[in-house]
Amino acid sequence: MSTDSVLTMEHVSHSYEDGTNVLNDISFSVARGEIFSLAGPSGCGKTTTLRLAAGLEPLSQGRIKIDGKVVADSATNVPPEKRHVGLVFQDMALFPHLSVKDNVAFGIEHLPRTERDARVTELLAQVSMAKFADAFPHRLSGGQQQRVALARALAPDPPIILLDEPFSGLDPRLRINIREDTVNILKQRGTTTLIVTHDPEEAMFLSDTMAVMRDGRIEQVGSPGELYCQPVTPYVALFFSAANLIRGVVDQGVVNTPFCPVPAPQLAEGARAVVLIRPEALLMDPEGGPPPATAMGSAEGTVISARMLRHSVVTRMDFGEFNGERLSLRVRRAGHFIPDEGMRFQVALDPKQTFVFPIRDKK
Ligand SMILES: Nc1ncnc2c1ncn2[C@@H]1O[C@H](COP(=O)(O)OP(=O)(O)OP(=O)(O)O)[C@@H](O)[C@H]1O
Ligand SMILES: [Mg+2]
Repeated sequence: MSTDSVLTMEHVSHSYEDGTNVLNDISFSVARGEIFSLAGPSGCGKTTTLRLAAGLEPLSQGRIKIDGKVVADSATNVPPEKRHVGLVFQDMALFPHLSVKDNVAFGIEHLPRTERDARVTELLAQVSMAKFADAFPHRLSGGQQQRVALARALAPDPPIILLDEPFSGLDPRLRINIREDTVNILKQRGTTTLIVTHDPEEAMFLSDTMAVMRDGRIEQVGSPGELYCQPVTPYVALFFSAANLIRGVVDQGVVNTPFCPVPAPQLAEGARAVVLIRPEALLMDPEGGPPPATAMGSAEGTVISARMLRHSVVTRMDFGEFNGERLSLRVRRAGHFIPDEGMRFQVALDPKQTFVFPIRDKK
C-alpha cells in the first residue's frame, strides 16, 4: 500500500453559527486504501468532522485537502458535488421511488449505458444484492438497504468514502455480519475510507488506523493495537472498556498495589498517580495453580459477585483496605466458571494490560 494521503485535515477548528466551539485544532490524514476511523462518545465532534470533509459545512479555520488539492481553507471552499466524496450516513435513505439498481446508478448517470449497467451489476454482486436489482427499497430489510446504500456510494468510484455510524440502525448480530462484509468489500476495491463510530469494538474491527476523539480534539491516533495496548491517557484506555483504578503516589519509581509495586518510570518521584488495570489483567485460576510466568505479583481476594457474559465471566472481588480505600476490583476470565460468593482466590497481575498515569489536577 502506498502511503500517499487522500484526505488531510490540518489544524481544523470549527464553531457553529451559535458560537459553540466544537472542533479544536484537529489534524490527521487518511492514506490511500486505508480504513481510518474517528471514534469517541456522543457529541465529541465526529459528524462535524465528516461534514467538513464532505463540504456540507463551511470551514471556520484550518485546511482540508483531498487527493493533494486544497478543498477548504480561508480562501477556498470547493462545493460538495465537486469534492466527489462518497457518503453513507446513518439516516441517509435510499430513493423510495427508484429500484435498487436505479439507486446504485444514480451517481453515474453520465456514464455510457453499457458501462453504467456493468458497474451496477458488479457492485450489486459485490454487496450480495444482485437478485434484488429490480426491487424497491420499501421491501428490503435494514441490512439490505445498508448494502445498497454502500453500493450507491461506491458506484462513482470516489477517491474517499465517508461513513457516519452506518451500522447503528442494525440489530447486533446483523451488524457484525454487515460490518465484516463491508470491510471485505472496501478492502477488495481498495477504497479509502473515513468511518465514524462511537463503538470501540467496531472501531477496532474496522480500522487500519483509528483516532480517539474527546471534546473536539484528537486524543490519540494509531493502529487499534497501539491504542489498546499503549494508551497515552486514561481517557483512551477507558474508551475501550471499564477498568479498575488504584490511586497512589510514586515512591522510588513505583506505585504500590496489593498485588505488587507497579513501575512508573516516566513519572516524577512523589507524583500522584493512578494504576489502571483492565479486568482481564487480573488472572484468577480456580484450580489454584501457580501464577503464570508473566505475572508481576499476586494477592488474595474474596468473591463478592460473579456474572456471566458471552465469552467470559466478570467477578467482583474484594481485596480489603488499601491506601485508606476499600478495594473492590473487577476480574474478567475467559470461559464459564462462575465462582460462589465468599470464595477466596489468589489473583495475579498481568503487566500487559496494566498502565500507570499521572493524576493531573483539574483545570
Ligand atoms: N448545526 C449545529 N449547530 C450548533 N451546534 C451543533 C450543530 N451540529 C452539532 N452541533 C454540536 O456540536 C457538537 C458535536 O456534534 P457532532 O454531531 O459532531 O457530534 P458526534 O460526535 O457526531 O456525536 P454523535 O455520536 O452523538 O453523533 C455537539 O455538542 C452538538 O450539539
Ligand atoms: Mg454523529
